Amino acid sequence: MSALLKISGLRAAYGQIEALKGVDLTVGAGEIVALIGANGAGKSTLLMTICGRPRAAAGTIVFDGRDITNLQTFAIVRFGISQAPEGRRIFPRMTVLENLQIGATTAAPERFDRDRARVFELFPILGERRHQRGGTLSGGEQQMLAIGRALMSQPRLLLLDEPSLGLAPLVAKQIFGVIRAINAEEKITVLLVEQNAHHALRMAHRAYVLQTGSIVLSGTGAELLANEEVRAAYIEGGARGAA
Ligand SMILES: Nc1ncnc2c1ncn2[C@@H]1O[C@H](COP(=O)(O)OP(=O)(O)OP(=O)(O)O)[C@@H](O)[C@H]1O
Ligand SMILES: [Mg+2]
Repeated sequence: MSALLKISGLRAAYGQIEALKGVDLTVGAGEIVALIGANGAGKSTLLMTICGRPRAAAGTIVFDGRDITNLQTFAIVRFGISQAPEGRRIFPRMTVLENLQIGATTAAPERFDRDRARVFELFPILGERRHQRGGTLSGGEQQMLAIGRALMSQPRLLLLDEPSLGLAPLVAKQIFGVIRAINAEEKITVLLVEQNAHHALRMAHRAYVLQTGSIVLSGTGAELLANEEVRAAYIEGGARGAA
């Protein structure tokens, strides 16, 4: 499988704090790759560094054969990488429709109507709530809107940071179903950070375990699901323990 995203020796820091200490990670075209790890391991930092904030301190990020390590965020989005960040950062004062329009800023305008219809097909509740302000949506609906907005930029690679965080099991299940659908039907490649390691590993083709800024383990989703250490640290008992 050809690599759509290839990260090599990636380092990132916040002042003196080194959050990524030389990460190597590959995402093949068409894959769902999960990234699991304890609180503070650097998962969000990895997704944000791919998008150019924070900047990589060392290493390279190659997307579709092109070195994007030092590009501006808007240019990275234009090349086809889109992120639904942790904590559902939608625009609370804008309506559902306006949030989707913002997501489509870098996209081909002739596809707008079709893309919007697709988002409402994936998340029917968003269609019903199209004129409601983002900030008044429920937590689950806001998460759907964050994913919908990311989809509006017509990404080839979708970065999802904890899409099921804080959601009731049924809503989380719906979100996982949508992630599967956009991967299978739209051929969108997905890099997924999830605290729900069990779900993430079941869904992922491959996965990586990040520990205090370094990748310590990788394999197929099934391999990591069967791995004793992974089970003890991230699944059984649900302990997200020390990073
Ligand atoms: N803006 C920031 N300024 C300073 N330090 C930061 C900043 N953001 C993150 N860090 C630190 O970088 C490390 C990695 O944080 P990051 O948010 O990437 O972890 P995470 O794996 O996403 O954790 P969680 O599961 O809690 O979301 C942590 O030690 C964190 O305190
Ligand atoms: Mg995080």
